[in-house]
Amino acid sequence: MNSSGSTKEVVMGEEIECGNSSSSGGAPRSGVVVGGLSPLSETLWRERSSMGLVGDGDVSARLTWKDLTVIVTLRSGDAQRVLDGLTGYAEPGTLTALMGPSGSGKSTLLDALSGRLATNAFLSGTVLINGRRTKLSFGTAAYVTQDDNLIGTLTVRETISYSAQLRLPDKMAREEKRALVEGTISEMGLQDCADTVIGNWHLRGISGGEKRRVSIALEILMRPRLLFLDEPTSGLDSASAFFVIQTLRSLARDGRTVIASIHQPSSEVFELFDYLYLLSGGKTVYFGKASEAHEFFAQAGLPCPPRRNPSDHFLKCVNTDFDKVKSTLKGSIKMRFARADDPLEKMTSAEAIQRLVAYYSRSKYGHTARQKVEEISRVKGNVLDSGGSQASFCMQAFTLTRRSFVNMSRDFGYYWLRLVIYIIVTICIGTIYFKVGTGFSAILSRGSCTSFVLGFVTFMSIGGFPSFVEDMKVFQRERLNGHYGVLAFVIGNTFSAMPFLLLISVLSGTVCYFMVRLHPGFVHYLFFVLCLYSSITVVESLMMAIASVIPNFLMGIIIGAGIQGIFMLVSGFFRRPNDIPKPIWRYPVSYMSFHYWAQEGQYQNDLKGLIFDNQTPDQPKISGEYVLQKFYQIDTGRSKWIDLSVLFCMIIAYRLLFFVMIRINEDVTPFVRGYIAKRRLQRKISRNQLSVASPELVNRVPSLRVVVADPASTSFEVVDLNT
Ligand SMILES: Nc1ncnc2c1ncn2[C@@H]1O[C@H](COP(=O)(O)OP(=O)(O)OP(=O)(O)O)[C@@H](O)[C@H]1O
Ligand SMILES: [Mg+2]
Repeated sequence: MNSSGSTKEVVMGEEIECGNSSSSGGAPRSGVVVGGLSPLSETLWRERSSMGLVGDGDVSARLTWKDLTVIVTLRSGDAQRVLDGLTGYAEPGTLTALMGPSGSGKSTLLDALSGRLATNAFLSGTVLINGRRTKLSFGTAAYVTQDDNLIGTLTVRETISYSAQLRLPDKMAREEKRALVEGTISEMGLQDCADTVIGNWHLRGISGGEKRRVSIALEILMRPRLLFLDEPTSGLDSASAFFVIQTLRSLARDGRTVIASIHQPSSEVFELFDYLYLLSGGKTVYFGKASEAHEFFAQAGLPCPPRRNPSDHFLKCVNTDFDKVKSTLKGSIKMRFARADDPLEKMTSAEAIQRLVAYYSRSKYGHTARQKVEEISRVKGNVLDSGGSQASFCMQAFTLTRRSFVNMSRDFGYYWLRLVIYIIVTICIGTIYFKVGTGFSAILSRGSCTSFVLGFVTFMSIGGFPSFVEDMKVFQRERLNGHYGVLAFVIGNTFSAMPFLLLISVLSGTVCYFMVRLHPGFVHYLFFVLCLYSSITVVESLMMAIASVIPNFLMGIIIGAGIQGIFMLVSGFFRRPNDIPKPIWRYPVSYMSFHYWAQEGQYQNDLKGLIFDNQTPDQPKISGEYVLQKFYQIDTGRSKWIDLSVLFCMIIAYRLLFFVMIRINEDVTPFVRGYIAKRRLQRKISRNQLSVASPELVNRVPSLRVVVADPASTSFEVVDLNT
């Protein structure tokens, strides 16, 4: 690859030159991008270099890992070795495929290399980037997970543009940002569907393969030097899988280091790989050039039979499940066609794995890999630290508000459906309580109407929960990749929902107010609408807080409904305030109930100043104040505006709770889980049930969220057993 950075396809088997020239030494020249970036990448990196965000010169990433072992602690108290002494490397300009049967440790290896291990996983060994133990900052390494959590209502171009706004520096010219977005779209081959929506449950959108490519596009936008992908082709047909891998290969040729786990590649896809890391049961079966794997298997005594897809053969050799398949088929008609040239007919997969693992460790392939790791590790390259999102907090909050608003306005299920239901329900209320008047029976009717509107109608806001869960999924993916902060997300979510909630409250409140003929007067009308708005917003905020910790929508709805049911019970309508049992229910639960404050305010707003008929005309009229004090047991000395203020304070409190819940979920929960896992492992070691674990191992709690929470900390948890 030339230094100007033009992408050059390299035929399989030929020497790959991308970016390796600088590794052998010599200080890289200032401003020269040695990795061979595309012109756009080069612009961005030059920009960053000039801003002091990255070290000058070589921005390529050479990744090595040595004696990597991962042990996970299980709930049962047992510990399981998931990865066992893996050694390997990945160089710029190459695409490395991690292959192996299900459960062989592919995802765990990716997680270990990218510093994303689960809290119950403990890692030992050395992982170096450019010969240094470096934390993997977000701009340097990107991780594309298996799920495409995207906003279904946005088009491909919008999705990438918003992501660019969220992460690129504010001072970068709009034109330059647009050029970068367009460049990324064409780099990922998404031009044809750039203006098509991603799609959701009611919108037909782009295909699965295109979604995968959008997910990858979002991560390559910041031009990361290291790209990790977990099963980028799962669920795709072979043609789509081919195009995705081909794109990854050209990304690699652009000077990036690409590592992807792949399940069952077709022969065409297999030919696109530069390096193959074959795993079985957490052990290395083969690591080396993909084109030489064929030869390795032949030398190990397991040659690939003619007319069989090599990758199928490799996987068949290392998958013990095939033994079960064989025994199931034994005696069946298919066995008559058993191939005499298949070495696996003569041995079990377990024997084959044993043979391959043993052969690899003493073969030239294993030796070369170890030698190369030593060689690469010795060269101290640049520290690739670009530090995540470059956009300011205000830009992040503004972009998130806009993006969320666009999504809400386009998604029929988010607010529009609820608006329709609210209006229908309030029309029903209006017809049932039509012109309620001031007769004796109106005393109870006005109370029950208010209770229904502020209790059951606001209750319907839990219907938005599935949309909140979708929002949270997108947030979690973006947060994990360091696109923006929690506060920016909470602000964006709060402000974008405001106009819709106001619209719902004004329209349904107006229908209800004028049909029922509640207390006349503009201020009374305004209070009613504000009361409805604040109640709906409190319910929304509560449900968002629940969605931040319970991502399952059925469980979230049940919990949200339960909490609201309890609050409704102590609101003062179903049991009068003074009759509610004092401990717990009256103090503090009724004061925590937003229904209680909303109802008290609206009762006062509606009844104060009205005169009601008595049971018989000869009896004296009843004042609204009397009803409030004696019947609803409300302190009329307290202004209704205080009740409304409490509701608005509750909105702020619930939004803060939402923020706190996310932070707890990110920081405290992994810490606690990590601590429990650590204790389990320690117990295991003290009982001498775990042979490899060193005391150092348990002193580290690799936590994914630690990486996110504090990028400045030594977040790349590595224990070097050699030091
Ligand atoms: N945090 C963890 N806690 C408990 N077990 C784990 C953990 N991480 C991995 N494992 C176990 O380690 C093994 C390897 O898991 P991993 O997800 O890495 O496999 P994989 O090769 O990616 O499989 P697949 O192809 O199905 O995605 C599995 O048996 C899994 O149950
Ligand atoms: Mg996996």
